[in-house]
Amino acid sequence: MNDNQNNDFHRIQNHADIVEIIKSYVKLESHGKNYFGVCPFHDDHSPSMSVSPEKQIYKCFVCGATGNVFNFVQNYLNVSFLEAVKIVADKIGENFVIRESSENAKNNKYYEIMNLATMFYQNNLRTELGSEARKYLYDRGLNDEIIKDFSIGLALPENNLLYKLLSSKNISKKDMDELGLVADGERGTYDLFRNRIIFPLKSPTGKVNGFSGRIYNSESHSKYINTKETIIFKKRENLYNYHLAAPAARQEKFIVICEGFMDAIRIYSVGIKNVVATMGTALAKEQIALLKKLNVKVIITMDNDNAGELATIALGKSLMKENVDIGVVRLTGKKDPDEYILTYGVEAFKDNLRNPMSYPEFMEIVLKKNRNLSNPTDLTAYINDVIDMIKDSNDELLIDITLNKLADEYHLDRELLKSKVKNEEQVEEVKVEVKKEDNTKEIKINNKFNKAFMTMLYYMMNDTNCMRLFLHYNLDLPRCKYRLVSNNLIYYFELNKEIDFADYLTFSENYPEVSKVVKEIINQVHVDEINEDDMEAVIGLVKEIIDREKIKELKAEMKNELDVNRKKKLFEEIIEIKRGCVKDGRD
Ligand code: CTP
Ligand code: MN
Repeated sequence: MNDNQNNDFHRIQNHADIVEIIKSYVKLESHGKNYFGVCPFHDDHSPSMSVSPEKQIYKCFVCGATGNVFNFVQNYLNVSFLEAVKIVADKIGENFVIRESSENAKNNKYYEIMNLATMFYQNNLRTELGSEARKYLYDRGLNDEIIKDFSIGLALPENNLLYKLLSSKNISKKDMDELGLVADGERGTYDLFRNRIIFPLKSPTGKVNGFSGRIYNSESHSKYINTKETIIFKKRENLYNYHLAAPAARQEKFIVICEGFMDAIRIYSVGIKNVVATMGTALAKEQIALLKKLNVKVIITMDNDNAGELATIALGKSLMKENVDIGVVRLTGKKDPDEYILTYGVEAFKDNLRNPMSYPEFMEIVLKKNRNLSNPTDLTAYINDVIDMIKDSNDELLIDITLNKLADEYHLDRELLKSKVKNEEQVEEVKVEVKKEDNTKEIKINNKFNKAFMTMLYYMMNDTNCMRLFLHYNLDLPRCKYRLVSNNLIYYFELNKEIDFADYLTFSENYPEVSKVVKEIINQVHVDEINEDDMEAVIGLVKEIIDREKIKELKAEMKNELDVNRKKKLFEEIIEIKRGCVKDGRD
């Protein structure tokens, strides 16, 4: 940021009155020197936010939100700092031009190309050639206003119309490649999206950075195809409809999160604008952060199937770790919120939103399933699972309530349960050091080898590269139940050539034995971020465990072996394994 721009900020800040600006968004009343209003940054009911004309700052005494006029606008409207400056400048009639850094300018070029493509697709939908697609959308209950709000468009069946259009505007093939718009085949360059209804994907500030295309008049093995990671499309940083949902969520004090973007569109179209969709993947920590920063209750309404239940478990777990207030809605009767609303109506859906379960209440149901709690073994397992679940929370009150309930229900000693929550934190969590090249990476792995196996499998079911890494090491897992999952994953990967978390969950449901273990894994593993380095470290650990067990077996065999030659062979085998550890050296 250069000096000139700095001068601009001061000029605009000096001329803007924070009270007037905030008043345009939130009702303020004067009390003595200061003004007070209901804080828009947390679930506030009385005026906890003070605005000081003297200091030109706002501060909430409850949630601690504070800053200057630009910060307020930035957080309230969910825009960048520069955009906030521009908005304030416009409001007071000052001149301000956003001068981008070269990095931004470069990305702007890409966003402009995405805009061109979006307008092209939107236009296709309006033409005669789009009548069948329009009919499809109308039949699904969308109207022109919704089609416009979501910038929905259409890619025609021809091979490379977009490529030709963009070429005619002197956009380089390289840029189109970079944005995942085109690909090369035997018949030359072709458009990636053909004969599909186009749903633009937007960044948290509302800029189109990717597309999802849905089939509507043809057969295809994939219902949707999506933009892969590109220079501006980072799946882990997007939530469908976040830019529209964020301001609405601050108003409404809650946000709804569902699985499919058609669900989000349906929910939005019946007047609940504070809704986002995960687009069927497990959420990355960046996406969790987007939800957390809204400071409102998150109501989870995933699909009404086993995969939806698993997704709810995983999302709830991540949100609980971040101390987010969670509500869980499990719809019954229809497969997803879209169909639910179409069948039972808006009011029925809203009733569900008004009466969500807490996350521990939901988990209670999940963990009780298929267990007979009058059987001591099942009961012990159940109680351990509840403790495992609740110890992720940082909310002392929630922990207390959950444990008290458990103690009352099964006549258990409260103090014992409480000590178990603490104990497991201290005793079970051990740190494993894994040496990697010249830096030492520490990965926290909860005690027991199982955790390492489960973590590795979790990575594999979340990320194609992690899957490849596993195949590269060619490990043979010694624990039967984990081998079951790894083989199932390999099979899935062979069929699909890539890993998609939600899709895999659905797939695994066809194999009840596998699905059971998958559920256990999702229940127990929490990783903040899927990355290959960590996966590599975990694989290293798993390999070490496998080797160690193998060596133990061989040693036992050697001890009992009388034949000297055979003994020597076993000894060499042990040495070979040990050498292997050094060689691929967790290097
Ligand atoms: N998804 C995907 N590719 C698929 C299937 C699903 O990318 N082959 C993603 C989409 O983002 C979709 C989400 O996973 O929104 C949820 O999938 P699903 O429940 O099957 O989608 P619906 O929203 O029900 O889609 P529709 O109603 O159009 O069938
Ligand atoms: Mn659907």
